[in-house]
Amino acid sequence: MISSARPCSIPALSSPPVLSSRGRSALVRPPLIRCALFECQYSAVNSSGLLNLGVAENSLCVEWLAQYFRSVFAVDYNDFTYGTSLTGSDRLFAALRNLFTTRFHARLPVQPAHIIAGAGCGAVLDALCAVLADPGDGILVAKPMYPGFAASFGCRNGVEVVGVDVPGGKENSIEALEAFERTLEGCKARGKRIRALVVCNPHNPLGFCYSREVLVEHCRFAEKHNLHLISDEIYALSTFGSHSRFTSLLSLDPLAEAGCSPSRLHVVYGASKDFGCNGLRIGVLVSQANPDVHVAIESSALLMKVSSAADMLWSSLLLDDPSLSTFLTLNLSRLRAAYARTVAFLSAHAIPFRPAEAGHFVWIDLTRYLPPGGNDIEREGALAERMWAQGLNLGRGSAYCGTPGWFRLTFSVRPDFYEVGLRRLEQVLGLTRECDGAVRLVRQQDEKEMKQVRAQVEEMTVAAAT
Ligand SMILES: Cc1ncc(COP(=O)(O)O)c(C=O)c1O
Repeated sequence: MISSARPCSIPALSSPPVLSSRGRSALVRPPLIRCALFECQYSAVNSSGLLNLGVAENSLCVEWLAQYFRSVFAVDYNDFTYGTSLTGSDRLFAALRNLFTTRFHARLPVQPAHIIAGAGCGAVLDALCAVLADPGDGILVAKPMYPGFAASFGCRNGVEVVGVDVPGGKENSIEALEAFERTLEGCKARGKRIRALVVCNPHNPLGFCYSREVLVEHCRFAEKHNLHLISDEIYALSTFGSHSRFTSLLSLDPLAEAGCSPSRLHVVYGASKDFGCNGLRIGVLVSQANPDVHVAIESSALLMKVSSAADMLWSSLLLDDPSLSTFLTLNLSRLRAAYARTVAFLSAHAIPFRPAEAGHFVWIDLTRYLPPGGNDIEREGALAERMWAQGLNLGRGSAYCGTPGWFRLTFSVRPDFYEVGLRRLEQVLGLTRECDGAVRLVRQQDEKEMKQVRAQVEEMTVAAAT
């Protein structure tokens, strides 16, 4: 019987219960994305809010996607249960097989047993790292790099990202592997065990695609040093350069081309970027020849299982070939236009940048605008604070282990919001407003496209109603 005599009160002198050492170290760890970014965002009704051009969000096709998803939404019995598999669903497996065959040119069909789906690529990388490396081990990544690797490998797994200093401009060359050799030697000398290397293809933040030849060299390196090779291909279908070609690791024959065991290769992909769906939270690991990796991850796969509603929406689009083609074509043409707009802006202001052929951002050089005083990182911080004070955020070079003073500028945000962001950047840098010609050109292109999109959306609505 429960006694009602003793009130449930907290003794006044009780000290707070302790956190684990993992929990305590998380208290001092800076978050992957500054929390304040979410608190007061710029919007149509909050023009004094913060414009975030520092996070890779692709909002260029939001209305198309919203309309499409509304038209296909349908859940069945299995969507209300834990579904047909812990690591995905029969529907998602079929959809991915289609995608990897037709768009990634996978050499071998991607079977359900090759796939582990999770709540975003970040979660999938965390789960993969947990079974490949032990706390204190290292994973090699070329600099500059996506900062989320440090979070996915380090936050819970205690695995260190070891940055590789690849000479500027040589990232997509065989010479890059010489830098990997040197870094690996250095790690051996100081007793740091390396378990894997990462290739981010297309590259975040530099926006280039790796050539087949250089990918093969990465495979050789993995085999030579008994490492795993993780290929993050989250921007695969955002390759907008007219002469550019994305090569998936799935399309290689690692044994024949590099003498590398296919059991070393792990590819990560997801809906966040190419499909403008960061919020759906879907990521997948494709590992075609390493059953141990699958069994090891399966024991905790339920902890990151994709929501059935998100699975249904993405799978519907992936299985609908005509709509998939329409979407991907539209997305690429908008990325191309947004990139052209960015190049026009940067050129008008003579801001140096690294030309991109893929991704949602450009790597730009603002070192000339760094305020005086302090070291380079402090000066970069001071410029970032000025941007913040003007309601603007860009990704700082040092956050990517890149040169301080370089910034990553995301261009795949809503075009009208983007223009506001560019005006704010001009203000922060003390630049006079660029001439309107470039803006007009892009708007005309936008209007033409909007007409096409409206027509497609109408067609879809009619098709859904009949
Ligand atoms: C290269 C790369 N990998 C992984 C992620 C994480 O994506 P997700 O939203 O699927 O967790 C990102 C997000 O920016 C990314 O740029």
